[in-house]
Amino acid sequence: MKTAEVDLESIEKMVRAFYATLIKDDLVGPFFIKALGDDLDSGKWREHYGTLDRFWLLMMTGEEGYRGDPYMVHAFMGTLTVEIFDRWLEIFYNQVHTQFTPKIADKFYTKGQTIARRFMQGLEIGEFASDEDDEY
Ligand code: HEM
Repeated sequence: MKTAEVDLESIEKMVRAFYATLIKDDLVGPFFIKALGDDLDSGKWREHYGTLDRFWLLMMTGEEGYRGDPYMVHAFMGTLTVEIFDRWLEIFYNQVHTQFTPKIADKFYTKGQTIARRFMQGLEIGEFASDEDDEY
């Protein structure tokens, strides 16, 4: 049964299911394992879930709670590529569309896509790549 409810309970469910899939992915998983380990019940992972619960609650409802700078976290994480972002987005799309009604799922996905593009722009990858380096 798909839900149209966007509240802490449905977001908690989404976040946990999303990362359970993400960690198994050959492209995206290793970044999480490196940062947080592979035990999804560990304190580090529980802290990450809590952060992401607050993040998505803010994104989707405007409810305050998340304070952070997600871009900075991703800027120093190793080499992120368009393929890695595309895979993240694909898994996110599947998760939100499995769980939420289409309109709500699209709202989640559009937010994710916009932020992913902003990260790529900041990191100068894909269509945002700077070709200055080629001149030297
Ligand atoms: C290329 C795909 C991505 C990878 C590999 C990735 C990886 C990670 C990792 C490993 C962390 C944990 C860092 C730590 O606590 O040490 C993290 C945190 C986070 N990620 Fe991503 N991420 C990706 C894309 C995204 C996107 C597209 C979004 C938003 C829509 C996002 C939102 C966040 C947020 C909000 C945090 C928590 C930041 C904080 O601590 O305040 N990530 N990510």
